[in-house]
Amino acid sequence: MERQVAIIGAGISGLLACKYTLSKGFHPIFEAKSNIGGVWTKTVETTKLQTPKPAYQFSDFPWPSSVKEDFPDQHQVFDYIQSYARHFDLLRHVKFNTKVVSIEYEGPSEEEMHSWSMWGSAGEPFSSKGKWKIVAGDALGLSTEVYPVDFVILCIGRFSDIPNIPEFPDNQGPEVFHGKVIHSMEYAAMDYQTAAEFVKGKQVTVVGLQKSALDIAMECSTANGREHPCTILYKTEHWTVPDYLPWGVPLGYLYLNRFSELLVHKPCEGFLLNLLATILSPVRWSFSKFVESDIKKKLRLAKFGMVPKHSFLQEISSCLLSTTPEKFYDKVEEGSIVLKKATNFSFCKQGVLVNGDTQPLATDLVILATGFRGDKKLKDIFVSSTFKDYIAGSPNTTVPLYRECIHSRIPQLAVIG
Ligand SMILES: Cc1cc2nc3c(=O)[nH]c(=O)nc-3n(C[C@H](O)[C@H](O)[C@H](O)COP(=O)(O)OP(=O)(O)OC[C@H]3O[C@@H](n4cnc5c(N)ncnc54)[C@H](O)[C@@H]3O)c2cc1C
Ligand SMILES: NC(=O)c1ccc[n+]([C@@H]2O[C@H](COP(=O)([O-])OP(=O)(O)OC[C@H]3O[C@@H](n4cnc5c(N)ncnc54)[C@H](OP(=O)(O)O)[C@@H]3O)[C@@H](O)[C@H]2O)c1
Repeated sequence: MERQVAIIGAGISGLLACKYTLSKGFHPIFEAKSNIGGVWTKTVETTKLQTPKPAYQFSDFPWPSSVKEDFPDQHQVFDYIQSYARHFDLLRHVKFNTKVVSIEYEGPSEEEMHSWSMWGSAGEPFSSKGKWKIVAGDALGLSTEVYPVDFVILCIGRFSDIPNIPEFPDNQGPEVFHGKVIHSMEYAAMDYQTAAEFVKGKQVTVVGLQKSALDIAMECSTANGREHPCTILYKTEHWTVPDYLPWGVPLGYLYLNRFSELLVHKPCEGFLLNLLATILSPVRWSFSKFVESDIKKKLRLAKFGMVPKHSFLQEISSCLLSTTPEKFYDKVEEGSIVLKKATNFSFCKQGVLVNGDTQPLATDLVILATGFRGDKKLKDIFVSSTFKDYIAGSPNTTVPLYRECIHSRIPQLAVIG
């Protein structure tokens, strides 16, 4: 009997999943947009790959020799993804402009499923007990179709679609502000000229201190210089890396290898691994201090009051390590970017009130570079409230997936990305 597998999303993860499932005779992909590439389809003008190129490569499809840069720009990344899809003839399997609205597992009762803990009672990818019902709509949301499938691979991405918007008490949110408030994803969606004109001549406040915030603040400072400095409001100082060579040593030698895995405690580790991680804790501490001292020196963090309170090990373990845009602190020094720590902020008519101040920070435009709710996007796609709870995990953990891919209590489904 032929089995149906559905892949949802045609970013890097969905295309990879497609290539491998095709080799087993399955397809297709549902993609909400009219193009492949996910986050690389359109983003902020100055965005480049921040991972060194060899670490961001399809293992069976190397970067073309024409791309000489260690950190290719977004167009080169997009072209590379397109070439991968063409090379493996994936495009014809993608149903474009088809947004999956919901997925529902039909068959066994909720009570029966509660007793399963082995990825669909038997620990097998396929089962005759039930099927997934995929409901997908056209681009305009005018009509929907239902697709019964045996297996779902969710590749819907974490850093797009649902913005993380800070919450404010009544009458202290964007609704009382006379200027404009947008999220970084709206800025990223503008064409480059429109984005540059949009910020030109405005007092811009950017909220956040990770990669979107840094890149957007750089673009604002280029457009407005010291005349209208761009203010960055941040909660937490972060270790961002100026390069991947602390004191000349490749960062990967310290953190991205099998030995470095032994340095950290892991859930459910046995006695030997626990002992090893404990004995090696001075090495763990020294590596972190080694990298921190390099970053502090290169970026002059102490001078700008930007030395993080947490260790570099914590930063890199969060998997949200950003690179520092070139000349970022030169812009801070010249005054075209102003860094302001804000444990809390709210809006009033004329601008933004920081840390309970009564005098507002005069602002025309606030750009919330406050990240995304990838967790919510994943949760929302399930109809079953039980599966929603499973996939959400606890508030303090990332999505609890075996090998970052499978939830043992959700049958016939994998999450990639
Ligand atoms: C600006 C930016 C730069 C980045 N730079 C780096 C970097 O340098 N290094 C690094 O390691 N990572 C980087 N990342 C992280 C990046 O998210 C991953 O590297 C990778 O591109 C994610 O691919 P993905 O396929 O998992 O998700 P996405 O690229 O987000 O693709 C998801 C796809 O699913 C589609 N989709 C979503 N919901 C539905 C639905 N309901 N129905 C149908 N289709 C749907 C979307 O339209 C999209 O095409 C960056 C992220 C951003 C936002
Ligand atoms: N290749 C590139 O150049 C590039 C460019 C852009 C994005 N990216 C990637 O895309 C992903 C998303 O990046 P991102 O920068 O958009 O989001 P992000 O990494 O999630 O950062 C969100 C920022 O917003 C702050 N924030 C969140 N909630 C807030 C609140 N309620 N009030 C004030 N501040 C708040 C966070 O502060 P705290 O840390 O203090 O919580 C953090 O500084 C990352 O993986 C990133 O590396 C890559």
